[in-house]
Amino acid sequence: MRLVIINGPNLNWLGRRQPDIYGSEGLDSINARLQEFAQSLGAELVCHQANGEGQIIDLLQDQADKCQGIVLNPGAYGHYSLAIADAVAALSIPVVEVHLTNVFAREQIRHSQVTAASCDGYICGLGWRGYILAIQALETLVKEGKNA
Ligand code: DQA
Repeated sequence: MRLVIINGPNLNWLGRRQPDIYGSEGLDSINARLQEFAQSLGAELVCHQANGEGQIIDLLQDQADKCQGIVLNPGAYGHYSLAIADAVAALSIPVVEVHLTNVFAREQIRHSQVTAASCDGYICGLGWRGYILAIQALETLVKEGKNA
């Protein structure tokens, strides 16, 4: 089983960006941890990061036929990108949206969730462990089917 993680804008700066909010661990280190976890489930995890909205859409379209499930942290785009929501809605593979922080406990503008409605599941507020849960959920969804 091949799963893909797509991290959006500014997440390449994890560890360096507002560590009081996002923690001190960098994206490469988190990705290594996630790949190890995926491997333990017998899955391969391919990690991508892009800062641009169009780049994220390109990645979603490009991966549509190359993997069985996607973990997406759209970063700030999650709050307003109808274009990314449309790209996710066009996919037939399951997508789980993850945010490291509890966006509902933050500024009002982050309470708006535009891409989440196109996703199969949504996790926020659990830091990097949210990605672990998303991978676990995708592995089950792919194996057992969404409605099992
Ligand atoms: C984030 C939450 C967003 O509001 C913010 O713009 C980010 C990171 C998170 O993972 O908590 O860039 O997606």
